[in-house]
Formats: sequence, C-alpha cells, structure tokens
Amino acid sequence: MQLLPGFRDFYPEDCARRNYILSRWREVARRYGFSEYDGPILEPIELYKKKSGGELLGQLFDFVDKGGRHVAMRPEMTPSLARMVATRERDFKKPLKWFCLPQFFRYEKQQRGRLREFYQLNCDIIGEPSPAADAEMLAILIDMLRSFGLTKEHFVVRVSDRNAWTQFALKRSVPEDRVLDFLAVIDKLERSSPEQIRPKLAEFGVTLEDVESFLRNPEAEAAGLRALTDDLRARGLDGFVELDLTIVRGLAYYTGFVFEVFDRNKTERALAGGGRYDNLLSLMSDGKVNLTALGFGMGDVVLQNLIQDTPPAREQMERWIADHHAADLFLVLANEERRPDALRILQSLRDAGYRVDYSLAPAKIGKQFQQAEQRGASIAILLGEEWPALKLKRLATREEWTVAQDTLCAEISRALPARTTS
Ligand code: HAM
Repeated sequence: MQLLPGFRDFYPEDCARRNYILSRWREVARRYGFSEYDGPILEPIELYKKKSGGELLGQLFDFVDKGGRHVAMRPEMTPSLARMVATRERDFKKPLKWFCLPQFFRYEKQQRGRLREFYQLNCDIIGEPSPAADAEMLAILIDMLRSFGLTKEHFVVRVSDRNAWTQFALKRSVPEDRVLDFLAVIDKLERSSPEQIRPKLAEFGVTLEDVESFLRNPEAEAAGLRALTDDLRARGLDGFVELDLTIVRGLAYYTGFVFEVFDRNKTERALAGGGRYDNLLSLMSDGKVNLTALGFGMGDVVLQNLIQDTPPAREQMERWIADHHAADLFLVLANEERRPDALRILQSLRDAGYRVDYSLAPAKIGKQFQQAEQRGASIAILLGEEWPALKLKRLATREEWTVAQDTLCAEISRALPARTTS
C-alpha cells in the first residue's frame, strides 16, 4: 500500500524532528506571553469560501459528510480564529496574544517545501492597532527562527504594505471590486516571466514599466514602517528586516502591512507569511465585533529543509533529539535470579522521574552494557557480585563506584546533571 502523494509517515526519527520544531515553537511563544488555543480539523466549506479566498479555494480537501454538510479539512487557521474570537469577544482582555500548532491540509502540487499535509505555527495579536503590535509580531517571528540556531545570514523578513498597491491600482482607475485580482497578479510577479505578466497587467490597464518604476520608487506611506524599524532596532533585531513591495500575499483578508520570510539564498519557498487583517472579525460578526488583528503562519516543511541545510542549526537539532531520547540509567542484571530486585529498583527510579531502561530478555553482561551505550545512558547500575550493594558505572568515563541500595536515589541525583531540556 502506497502513501498518498504529499502525506508523510512519521517514523520515530521523523517524529523526533517534528517534536523538536513543535517544542521550540511552544517555548518561544510562551516567552512572548502567547496563550495556546486550537480549533476543529473540519469546518463548513463556506468558512473558507467567504474568508480565505485566493488560491486556497482550489486546494481544499472537501467532501459531503453523512449529514449532507459540505465540509473541508482545515487548510489554515485564520478564519476559525476570527470566528472563535468574535463569538466570545467579551470574555477576553485585549489585546489577545494567541498561538496554535495545527496540522493543515491543502491539495497542492507536491514539490520541495510543499506537501498536502503540514504543521503550521500561528501567532496572532487581536485588538491592538498600533505599530508596536506589528513590531512585536516580527520580533516573535524572528526569535522563533533564531531559536533554531538560524541567524540573519540564513533568513530575511521582507515587509510590505498592501495599501500601497491598492492606492496604486485605484489611482490607475482599476475598479474597486477588481483590486484583489490585481493584487493576485502582483503576488505572482517574482515567479513569472515578463511575457506572462504583461498581458495580465494589461487587463487592468497597467504596464510592467509602471509597476517596475513603482517598485524602485514606492509612493508607499513609509511612516508606519519607520516606527516598526525603530522598535526592532531598539531590540537589536532590525537587521533581519527589509522593505520589499513585491510581497502582497495570496489570501483575501489582508488589509495593509504584510510580510514573508525567505531563506537568504532563496532556494526554498517562503518559510512564513502573514500580516494585518483588520476587517476579518467585523466581517465574521456582521459588524458586531470591530477588532483589528495581525498574525503569521510558519510551516514545518520549509523550516526543516533549512535546518537540515544549515550545519549549526542541524547540530543543535541533533543534540536536542539525542538528549530527549537518551536514557539516564540502565540496569544491568548479572544474575537472572535477581530480576525481581531489578524490577523493584527500576520502578522506584522511574517513579522518581528518571528515564530507566533494561534488557527485557536475559542477556550476557557485555551485551547489556552495549545496550546501555546504545540507549545513550549516562550511568549503568549493576546488580552483580557486590549484591546487596550496587555498582554504578559512568559510561562516558568508565568511572566505577559502589553504593548501598538505600542511598541509590540520593547518589543518582548527585551524579546525574539536572535536565535542562524542555
Ligand atoms: P500561508 O502563506 O498560506 O499563510 O502559509 C504560511 C506558511 O505555511 C508558508 O509560508 C509555508 O511555510 C507554510 N505552508 C503553506 N502551504 C504549505 C504546504 N502546502 N506545504 C508545506 N508548508 C506550507 C496562512 O496560512 C495564513 N493563515 C497565516 C496567517 C496567520 N496570517 C495571519 N495569521
């Protein structure tokens, strides 16, 4: 039986890499005071038809359920988040800083960095219109990537303002109801040849030369971006950000400030993308809830490619994984008759919170020590000739010493370094 295209099996080594990413994301989100939430995996298809728009609609995994409802597997979180907040808006102090780590489904063409199933960190701030929120959002985005050992040599945040293009279009008499279609053409600018782009722009009465000269000399309202850069400079994070008006984003709900993150060599698809969606909550609640919002999504697929291709980041990941899967202790049993004693000691050490392993099947002592090494144990505990005393052996240094059973836990807590992993 073959896997469906774009779907992954997670063998233990794959799960370990995925969990590394998810756990870093969680840890940094907590540092910034974001609270975790989640929503349903299935939603009524209208939610995405009305709110996501753009390319996403052609990529839905959708079906009619047994009750005749047309549903879609979630391709993104933002419409669900807007509904959740609009529904219970009064229950929450503003601004809300929320994050989630959901798995999404999009029927895309499978390629490097793009699958049909992926995890995506979402961070959103709701109810704070000032540039301080924009800067906080970029700071958490940058720190998410820094926490993987990536630096400004490895990635760049390209910021832009959709309003600049909206005004550009309106000034050139693009009808208001066609501005989103115009933005979709600009979104494809970098990925298309001049021959492909020219006729598409011509539909809006715009020339490629006009667009190119705007990009070189933006009429964009730069004041908002200046406050943003000043804020990031005070944190020492301004070197990660560049202005790039070719970024407009493919989703319908963005209202102004938008951004995407790319690897410096630009060999990968976007690592993350987001922006302001100041009208979505109002749209979702028929005008009852007027809260501004902004946020981003960061996928695990491109991030993992970049980590694998960046030696310091890869080594940091491998250290974390080794650390998380290694045993602390390994019990070595010289004499099968002592198995009940070994199990009693095993249980008390596990109850004390240590990661303890042992050989399920009877095995020669040498083989058991080999297993201890393979499990990455720090210390082997031998039930051998010294019985009822125990012999401890630190595997890295081969140092050996003997302890009485009733002092074992105290001795282990002295001899094992405290865990610092999260
Ligand atoms: P998005 O640009 O569609 O934004 O996705 C954000 C990130 O998710 C992408 O940059 C990419 O890393 C990852 N991603 C998207 N599609 C795939 C795929 N097929 N395979 C692997 N990774 C993928 C959104 O989803 C917005 N809802 C983000 C947002 C949150 N805006 C405001 N708040």
